[in-house]
Amino acid sequence: MIHRFDTGHPRKIIFGKGSINLLPNILDSLGLRGNVLIVTGMKFARVTGYLDRLSSLLKDHGDTVFIFDKVEPNPSIETIQKGVELAARVGVNFIVAFGGGSVIDAAKAISILPLQGGSIEDYFYDITHRPILPPTLPVVAIPTTCGTGSEVTKYAVITKGLNKYTVLGDQIIPIAAILDAETLSYLPSEQFAIAAMDAISHSLESYFNNDSNIYSEVFAITALKILLNNYMNGFNNDIEAREEMLYGSMLAGMAINMTGTTLVHALSAYITPRFNIPHGLSNGLFIDVYLKKITKALPEMTIKLVKNLGFTTDDPKEASDIIVSSIKQLKKYSGILIGLKDLNISETHLHEIAEAGYNFKRLVEKVPVKITFEDVIEIVNEAYQIKI
Ligand SMILES: [Fe+2]
Repeated sequence: MIHRFDTGHPRKIIFGKGSINLLPNILDSLGLRGNVLIVTGMKFARVTGYLDRLSSLLKDHGDTVFIFDKVEPNPSIETIQKGVELAARVGVNFIVAFGGGSVIDAAKAISILPLQGGSIEDYFYDITHRPILPPTLPVVAIPTTCGTGSEVTKYAVITKGLNKYTVLGDQIIPIAAILDAETLSYLPSEQFAIAAMDAISHSLESYFNNDSNIYSEVFAITALKILLNNYMNGFNNDIEAREEMLYGSMLAGMAINMTGTTLVHALSAYITPRFNIPHGLSNGLFIDVYLKKITKALPEMTIKLVKNLGFTTDDPKEASDIIVSSIKQLKKYSGILIGLKDLNISETHLHEIAEAGYNFKRLVEKVPVKITFEDVIEIVNEAYQIKI
């Protein structure tokens, strides 16, 4: 019997180097034309020339271009509001989001409000459970990192003060995703490593997940294999490897679109705004320690995963070690922070981190083994001390 699954996808996914040039044809095929808002960050699109290039492509297509280049990492409710005000004032017909996960998340959040009114806080899923209903503005997403998979997901994470909130619904899945690996050639190695660690966490938290299913598993396993195999060369700016990583992170996004994430993202959701740690990095601090804990209780799933990765073992302990050590190896290779201790945060914060993670019930309930508060304390303590 196949267990029920439920997911949405962009209407179009265009993958390949140089595919940004196809933007006018893509817009034609989707019937998009008129006033367009380019949503992007403060610097990258401008200094790389992509902002001019996108503006020219859109103007030649007959669109009137407006630019909102104010999106910061971990976009705030204030930023979303500014974007919404601009979109509403000029009467935007569609959005082109060009940037990393924060930019695409911001664009997805902005897309709801010009046609619906209200505030983005009305859609903080864990507080209001309010569904996102049509109409929203269509978003064409062009990722410039290989981490969040936001270009294909139904999630947008918005920061209010020191807390992160998820806006969630099929209605904000981008109508099109254009994945052009040439954009990744500008990504500094450290940012690449951090983004990739987010994608790796997505694939593993989707695979080991109570909502994992026959379809999400295809994406999760394939993504993990690609991400692990291309991380090091991608770190060294091999463009072919980075293209693979862009594909892998998209697949991992497809996987979490069905399953969501689990405890690693629950812990990360707390420490990112609290201690100003990039999202991918904060996932990377916990993912290996977390997997060490849960794979012990999931021998069959763990063996199946490592076999799919190309290893031959029927020993659960060995299978668990393979997964944990392959992540540690990548962390060591890329020189990103290994443990919480490296953040120079006081040990006195560990209890509050564990408490916040454990209390993020929507994610913790998806952990496919029984997990107690004491387990979470143990994971956080080990993530603090960890050495490689
Ligand atoms: Fe993530």
